[in-house]
Amino acid sequence: MDDSFHKDSNMQSSEWHPHIWPPFTQIKSATPPQRITRGQGALLEIDGAPPLIDAISSWWVTLHGHANPYIASAISLQAQELEQVIFADFIHPQAERLAQRLCKKTGLQRLFFSDNGSTAVEVALKIAYQRWQNINEPRNQIIAFEGAYHGDTFGAMALGERNLFNAPFERMLFPVARLPWPATWWGDDEVESRENKVLAGLANLLETATAAVILEPLLQGAGGMSIVRPEFLQAIEKLVLQAGALLITDEVLTGFGRTGSLFSFQKSGIKPDLIALSKGLTGGFLPMGVTMAKEEIFQTFVGEDPSLTLWHGHSFTANPLGCAAANASLDLLEESPNLYRTFESRHQPYLEELAKNPKVKRPRLLGTIAAFDIEVEGAKGYLNVAGKTLQKHCISHGVFLRPLGNVVYLLPPLCISNLELEQCYLAIESGLQDL
Ligand SMILES: Cc1ncc(COP(=O)(O)O)c(C=O)c1O
Repeated sequence: MDDSFHKDSNMQSSEWHPHIWPPFTQIKSATPPQRITRGQGALLEIDGAPPLIDAISSWWVTLHGHANPYIASAISLQAQELEQVIFADFIHPQAERLAQRLCKKTGLQRLFFSDNGSTAVEVALKIAYQRWQNINEPRNQIIAFEGAYHGDTFGAMALGERNLFNAPFERMLFPVARLPWPATWWGDDEVESRENKVLAGLANLLETATAAVILEPLLQGAGGMSIVRPEFLQAIEKLVLQAGALLITDEVLTGFGRTGSLFSFQKSGIKPDLIALSKGLTGGFLPMGVTMAKEEIFQTFVGEDPSLTLWHGHSFTANPLGCAAANASLDLLEESPNLYRTFESRHQPYLEELAKNPKVKRPRLLGTIAAFDIEVEGAKGYLNVAGKTLQKHCISHGVFLRPLGNVVYLLPPLCISNLELEQCYLAIESGLQDL
């Protein structure tokens, strides 16, 4: 093996690894990544540099903190018992326990395991679509929202907003009917009229036989940390119910306390037919996704005819290590629900202060997530550089952020200390001055 790269350099930030193809990155213009050697709590330890506060939970997955000893030990114990087993012919206690717990917590009675957020969404979509064929009432229309992000596999890409990220595949993506997402923020007086327009549009679309409506409940993540009101989602649910369509909530980001309740659909006051979960499911330790479904949907897949079957599965379906991590993470959430229930009040005073800065537009807050737009000139959206400039500043102040264009947000692990949270806000405040 050619190990010259490792020997010749400390892989400091001036070099790209010669063999790694990095995700979401144009190496011509991006800065090479730092090497992380350790993570503890909210901190990431970097080779030869001071630690960084992981203020975005490493792509929104790290729930209780890095290297949480309770979850680490649950994985280690499980690894010594059973690391993996084919989940078609066998089941195992960790999966049984997890399924039972998640069904009780969501009120949906069936759980299908997969590997990540995109596959959890793909499975939800396949279930929803096939369900109509199984009952001999095929329906083709799928409705989703502008700004949505549901993952990077083909079905998930098709559901998501069409943009730079999926443009090369446009002709391979199936059509999806789309509605605006009436996002709101502090001091927004016009939200109701925006919502009403969308609801009228939805009623219109639902006149066509619709298989499913999919949405990110209360918060679109990658689309810009855009928040909608529970009232809006309740009105959607009503229309969807009237039309007899299925409602899919993609809780890949919002699940497991992120928005202040265990699941965001609960805070929204709606009851979806299908739910996609991932990210925080294992506390962020291992890749795993699940799709929850109502029992009556499951029952439409049961029968003598093989074509009724959901012919879907993955090599690592219900991996015992992932299930052990997820059970341990649920233990922690059950033990200290106030950590996520009251997190919003920890952000509140800091965001209020920050909102006085004229460069801060549309401040918004939901559970553990605080966000705002930087007032910018020129192109808005993901390619705007203001966020990049702020990111550099914050890193030099010990805080790792990853703004979405000009949208800045904090989505820290639950274990972040008050001092660390304050440091995040101070870094942002001083960074805004330099913009
Ligand atoms: C709402 C939502 N759905 C799906 C996904 C895709 O998840 P994954 O990256 O694990 O495939 C993401 C990822 O950010 C997401 O935020």
